[in-house]
Amino acid sequence: MKIQSLRGMPDLFPEDLERWHIFESKLANIFHSFDTHEIRTPLLESTELFSRSVGNSSDIVNKELYSFLDRNEESISLRPEGSASVIRAVIQKKQEQEKHKLWYQGPMFRYERPQKGRFRQFHQVGVEYLGFEEGIAEYELISMVLQINKLIGISDYTIKINHLGDRDAKELFCDSLVTFLKPHINELDEKDQARLKSNPLRVLDSKEKSTQELLKEGPKFQDFISDDSKIFLQNLVDAYSNQCDIQIDQSLVRGLDYYTGIVFETVSQNLGAQDALLGGGRYDNLSRQLGGKDMHAIGFAIGVERIIELLNIEKIKQPLKVGFIIAGEQIDKKTYKIADDLRSANNSIILDSFLSEGSLKSQLRRANKNNCSYAIIIGEEELKNDQVIWKDLSEGGGQELLTSKEVIDKYTNL
Ligand code: HAM
Repeated sequence: MKIQSLRGMPDLFPEDLERWHIFESKLANIFHSFDTHEIRTPLLESTELFSRSVGNSSDIVNKELYSFLDRNEESISLRPEGSASVIRAVIQKKQEQEKHKLWYQGPMFRYERPQKGRFRQFHQVGVEYLGFEEGIAEYELISMVLQINKLIGISDYTIKINHLGDRDAKELFCDSLVTFLKPHINELDEKDQARLKSNPLRVLDSKEKSTQELLKEGPKFQDFISDDSKIFLQNLVDAYSNQCDIQIDQSLVRGLDYYTGIVFETVSQNLGAQDALLGGGRYDNLSRQLGGKDMHAIGFAIGVERIIELLNIEKIKQPLKVGFIIAGEQIDKKTYKIADDLRSANNSIILDSFLSEGSLKSQLRRANKNNCSYAIIIGEEELKNDQVIWKDLSEGGGQELLTSKEVIDKYTNL
């Protein structure tokens, strides 16, 4: 029997990772321009970190956590998300009173039923702004979302946004929702009945049409939050509504318990059932909940597998590729030096070397198939004269003989 990878935990081969690398390099520029810096935290944390942050009644902790006892009989878990670990790390370093603009990336683990766009090991890129009260940080993060989408060529998306008020408002709304729904409990399906008992706010997320109809008559978040919060939400939406599709969604509560204030999600119609590209919001109480000092916090996380599905490769400038073809049996070693010199002269070009495999014709065919714009061909005769053939692979493109110095110059200035 051959050993298989675990369900929902796919391998990523070079051909899969091409899109990831484009995405990652674009993001690095954006984070740099926002003066946001990388943090790396462990993949394993104590289980308590997630039960106290994401919440015991959330699906993520209740059903989806990969938890086990270590050799010391302590319950540890593979992280299902990144925010809790970032807050834990900052508290541990006693830096709650400083300001931080952080980003992270890496695998997350949730024992969900795998389907298109949903995995058990998936990857997030997250951003957390710590120490900034409600205000400009919300604007900055929405701007960042817009920039990310623009830079990777996504135009067909909607930002859903809501304001959950402070903790008291959230609790009062929750109580009122329970009071409203209880007399109708028999009209709810099994899943919503369970949600009503364990995590009533999640009933708002129900996919059941009849539940959604019922909720139209129920209490509205907007009636529980302060006028300031309502105005803040409206101003935020107004500021971006001429740049993207941004809509207030009063049923948006998010599946993690730590949020208060602004919450948002970006969805795309081009993704199928798992349509959320990213999600986030403010979570000012989490530091206290985890035993730290008061610390404002807001952030979001992108689902990498989902966003790269939408990456518009055609709209993104690809690095130039040049085929390096050795057309002679015995000359490989001597030509390596030329390849070395070319790579050190200009490492932004991909030098695609076929290392004398196959005839000149088949190597040229491979260069075309690999989308090379040019080919450098070195045969025995040329090498003797310290020359190479430079071939333009575009239709009707010609070729010329260049000395090794000339080819380096040309390559440097491509
Ligand atoms: P989340 O909404 O649970 O938020 O996850 C963020 C994104 O991760 C989702 O929008 C989705 O794109 C992706 N994602 C989640 N689960 C899966 C899965 N099973 N397979 C593939 N992709 C998935 C959080 O995790 C929060 N920590 C975000 C945040 C940061 N809030 C404040 N700061």
